[in-house]
Amino acid sequence: MFTDIDRLRADTPGIAHRIHLNNAGAALMPRPVLEAMTGYLTRESEIGGYETAAEAAPRLDAVYASVARLIGASRDEIALTENATVAWQMAFYSLAFKPGDRILTARAEYAANYVAFLQVAKRTGAVVEVIPDDADGRLDPEALRRMIDDRVKLIAITWVPTNGGLVNPAAAVGAIAREHNIPYLLDACQAVGQMPVDVEALQCDMLSATGRKFLRGPRGSGFLYVRRELLERLEPPMIDHFAAPWVATDRYELRPDARRFENWENNYAARLGLGVAIDYALDIGMEAIAACCRDLSGHMRQALARIPGVTLHDLGPDPAAIVTFSVSGHDANAIKEGLAKAGINVSVSVPASTLLDAEARHLPALVRASPHYYNSSDEIDRMAAEVQRLVAFASSQG
Ligand SMILES: Cc1ncc(COP(=O)(O)O)c(C=O)c1O
Repeated sequence: MFTDIDRLRADTPGIAHRIHLNNAGAALMPRPVLEAMTGYLTRESEIGGYETAAEAAPRLDAVYASVARLIGASRDEIALTENATVAWQMAFYSLAFKPGDRILTARAEYAANYVAFLQVAKRTGAVVEVIPDDADGRLDPEALRRMIDDRVKLIAITWVPTNGGLVNPAAAVGAIAREHNIPYLLDACQAVGQMPVDVEALQCDMLSATGRKFLRGPRGSGFLYVRRELLERLEPPMIDHFAAPWVATDRYELRPDARRFENWENNYAARLGLGVAIDYALDIGMEAIAACCRDLSGHMRQALARIPGVTLHDLGPDPAAIVTFSVSGHDANAIKEGLAKAGINVSVSVPASTLLDAEARHLPALVRASPHYYNSSDEIDRMAAEVQRLVAFASSQG
């Protein structure tokens, strides 16, 4: 636990109203993020949108450096996007596939990514294959190694899936991808903000992430990283005159940096909020945040496991701060609503968000509770007590 947890909690106005355990959905923004954004919007209303952007240009520009610092990249390898999905799509749809090309992914791949694989497979004749898991339920790097051949044109996996605490061995996958010179696209949406991210250690070529989850940034913000060597070879699936200036009547020239994946119009208040959220996390320290997330989610798992009828569905030996569980005889939505009435925010992870994993493990809709460093053990105990009360109440009814 942090020594300055009181300050961090005081920076989080939302905790006065709710016990917020939906950080894998959207975390509570800290006050500096909120103030940067509202200040920016106020200024837009006072002097005009273009004028505010010009005035704030150095601060807006610094957001690229903040993202780069967060993930160990260079600023010219960063594109800012409106969410993680657009970031991921820009990378994925830039790649060319032909019949028989193989796309390798993991069992708990996120729905948005998987439907894009299916679409590209339908259009091009490429095939999508799932890398087997190890005994702990994580992607098995040795199984991946055995799958590699000349037809593997992409490895694209989710590091921390949306439906539980599983942490896939993203760096081991990167080592194999690099060894065989296969492009590697990593969905780090649920990892950024809750654990250190270093693209050099991960050896990924492309990485997508969102602002609103564990980073505690605003909704409608995200980013894409593309390694410089690959960047120059990728033509975005869609361009405008920002991504590719119109240099002659019959010609455009793609920007040399990752901003070729952006377009002209943006929500600058959200970008600024993203930058402040990243600086805020880096000031606290990603190692400290990761340790705290592990402690709190471990505490939550222990508390829930003691409740009769509760089954945890997390996989992996060292799970992240996404705790998913079912309660025998109770619908996940009913538990979510019951908790909401007690002022406790959780979410529901539906099978269709990770369909391969849900089918393989026969998972129903799961309650998803995702603590963050600003939560307290007391909040977690209150949540577990409320789950217990809901279960006991339902049993007494019938
Ligand atoms: C693993 C994973 N990838 C991608 C996304 C999509 O992120 P966004 O909604 O910012 O596009 C999510 C959102 O829940 C996610 O959990």
